[in-house]
Amino acid sequence: MGFFRKNQGPDTVLVDFDRLPRHIAIVMDGNGRWAKKRGLPRRAGHAAGAEVFRTIATYCKDIGLDYLTVYAFSTENWKRPQDEVDAIMGLLKKYLLEAIGQMERDRVKMAFFGDLSLLTPELRELCHRTQEISKRYEGCQVNICLNYGGRDEIIRAARAYALDCQEGRADPNHLSQAEFSGYLYSRGVPDPDLIIRPSGELRLSNFLLWQSAYAEYYFTGVLWPDFTKEELHRAIASYQGRNRRFGGV
Ligand code: FPP
Repeated sequence: MGFFRKNQGPDTVLVDFDRLPRHIAIVMDGNGRWAKKRGLPRRAGHAAGAEVFRTIATYCKDIGLDYLTVYAFSTENWKRPQDEVDAIMGLLKKYLLEAIGQMERDRVKMAFFGDLSLLTPELRELCHRTQEISKRYEGCQVNICLNYGGRDEIIRAARAYALDCQEGRADPNHLSQAEFSGYLYSRGVPDPDLIIRPSGELRLSNFLLWQSAYAEYYFTGVLWPDFTKEELHRAIASYQGRNRRFGGV
């Protein structure tokens, strides 16, 4: 695909589309502040954020990214006011229904990381259906983290592994990182190369704790509903300018 030039001059953003990260993960943060700045209810920020997610996910597929993972709802987000939780779940339902309707056209493979048992049966069924139908697609895989927490994921993996040890299916003396990774929600998915967090917050917030060991980070003050393809280009260009050593020299 070659290089992308946003414009000439000091703001030129150069992305080498032949050297994209394989996996980008995004904390979709700043929806509430975006709404507040406009005097709107927080749910309006989430609605705008859901549209940006759709644009960015489609774009990631178009440029040939292999994996996109987004943090949509954390294990801690249940503490939010019920109407806000309901609004986010409503947006997810709307998105999934539309995604199912357009699946043959978009051919995006979708997966969910998180404990879906706390979702309504309707939403849970929609998640399972989306995942099942899209299994056969081979392009970009979009992972939506829903009722997801990195620590919770690791604890669940440890429990499942301990059970396998107890029942003779695994041997703790031979546990490797690769084997343990197979117990995580992300099994089979390569670790993220680039983690993007908009909105100016400089923390990971329990996102992909195990998988982020060697990820590169890109932080920007832009609020998620204002996030654009150009901002994604900036993040990728920044990533491409780095020297990843994975602990070596
Ligand atoms: C964080 O911003 C955002 C969330 C907790 C929800 C993200 C949900 C969506 C974008 C909509 C549904 C998603 C999909 C995949 C259709 P915040 O509310 O913490 O913002 P703030 O820090 O400014 O308050």
